Order: sequence, then C-alpha cells, then structure tokens
Amino acid sequence: MRGNHVKINPQAFVDMKGNQRIPMLTAYTFPVAASIESAGIPIILVGDTVGMVEMGFSTTRDVTIEHIEYHLGAVRRGAPNTHIIGDLPYLTDRSPEIALINAKRLIQAGADSIKLEGAKIDVIAHLVQDGIDVVGHTGLTPQTSKNFKKVGQSEQEAQTVLSEARAIEKAGAFMLVLEHIPDSLGQSITNELIIPTIGIGAGSDCDGQVLVTNDALGLGSRWPPFSKQYMHASQAITTSAQKFACEVTSGIFPKSADD
Ligand code: KIV
Repeated sequence: MRGNHVKINPQAFVDMKGNQRIPMLTAYTFPVAASIESAGIPIILVGDTVGMVEMGFSTTRDVTIEHIEYHLGAVRRGAPNTHIIGDLPYLTDRSPEIALINAKRLIQAGADSIKLEGAKIDVIAHLVQDGIDVVGHTGLTPQTSKNFKKVGQSEQEAQTVLSEARAIEKAGAFMLVLEHIPDSLGQSITNELIIPTIGIGAGSDCDGQVLVTNDALGLGSRWPPFSKQYMHASQAITTSAQKFACEVTSGIFPKSADD
C-alpha cells in the first residue's frame, strides 16, 4: 500500500463530520493520483474540470462519459487505496435511468462513488436505491451556470441553495460539495446537515475542502480567486524546457555513453 491509509468508506466520511476535516483533491492521471495517495489524502475527485484544466475546452459541457472513464482508470491505478469519486458529465444524468447506466459505467471504471451537479432529487434517490454512493453538488454548478459568479448572494438565492442542500441530503447523498457561495451560507448548510459538506469557495466552516489539483499546483495561467497555489508548476515546466533546449543546442545533453 502507498501512503498511510486504507480506503475510507462513505459512512466513515459521515462519521468524520465535526471530528476531523476532510481534504479532497481532484486528479486525472496516474502519477498525480499516486502522489496524492502518498500524501495521505483520503478522497480524490475525478471531476469534469478535466475538460477545462487538462483538455483545453472552455466549458465542462464538452466532457463525455468516455473521458471520465479513461481518467478514472488512470487514477484508480495510481491510487488503489483511496476513495475515488467519479463525476457524471453534462447530460449523462438527464433521467434516473440514464444516470444509473452511466453511474454503473463509472463504478466499473474504478469509482467508489458518483458525484452529480444540482438538485436532481429523483436521480440521486434512484442511484442510492440501486446501492450507489452519491455525492451531491450545489451552489455554483458549472455544467448549467451562465457564468462563474458566486451563487446565493441574495436572500432568495441563498434560500434556494439551502433548500437544495436539504433535499440532496434527504435523497440519500452521503456528502455534499458546496461551490462558490458566501461563507455564511456555507456555515449555515454545514451546521444544518448531517452529511459532511466539502467547500470550494464556500468558506472555512465546511467539513472539508476540495481544490482542483491543477490550481493547487499552479498549472495553467489563471486560477479561481478562492483557490490557492502551493507551487508554480507551469513556470517550473517552462524553465526546465528552456534548460533542456539550451543543453541540446549547446551539446551538453546527452553526455556520450562512450566517455
Ligand atoms: O469537476 C470538478 O472538479 C468539481 C470540483 C470543482 C468540485 O466539481
């Protein structure tokens, strides 16, 4: 086993609420998943953000079920002992029956649980009834939102997010991602729900936090305001590539094996 942990099941994540905060990162590839598992992170999300941060699409709506299956396979091989959530891409959850077929594909590809965006209560209930562990996602839901602005700033919008959160829990989700909402709303939802909330731009009172790993590593050139860069990988890649080019053109690399 790599890292320091055994795979954590959904009930154990629920039991962590109020006792231990949950760190979650996204991953899309084998080596990154392996490093995240080695760091002891208990839960990885193979999110449809892959379309924007790895594939160069301008929205997550271009991501297909085949893309997520492919990345799930790589991440599972890299992190065999970590709980992995597979994200249902845009429209693959458009009815309970279609969502179930696609959720089973993601489980088959390596996911332990399935995340879907929005208050699709009948879909969540149908998956849970079939024995699938579900993670909800409310607040900013990029598959259907018109922009990336904070959601829930007016009293009315805040009430909508709160009632969606309640309904998602009632439908049987074991965890809820809260994206880009006011800190106070993140706190209210966290206090009210029994299941753990995982925030991304939802304040420090959530039960856990998720970051898109590419943002955390400083890969790319623009990052959301609520993210944090723990290193600047794109700069490091450019510097390494420049060094390599210099060494090739000047004949420093490779050294002759005959020397
Ligand atoms: O797809 C994803 O990576 C996500 C996170 C931003 C929570 O949904």
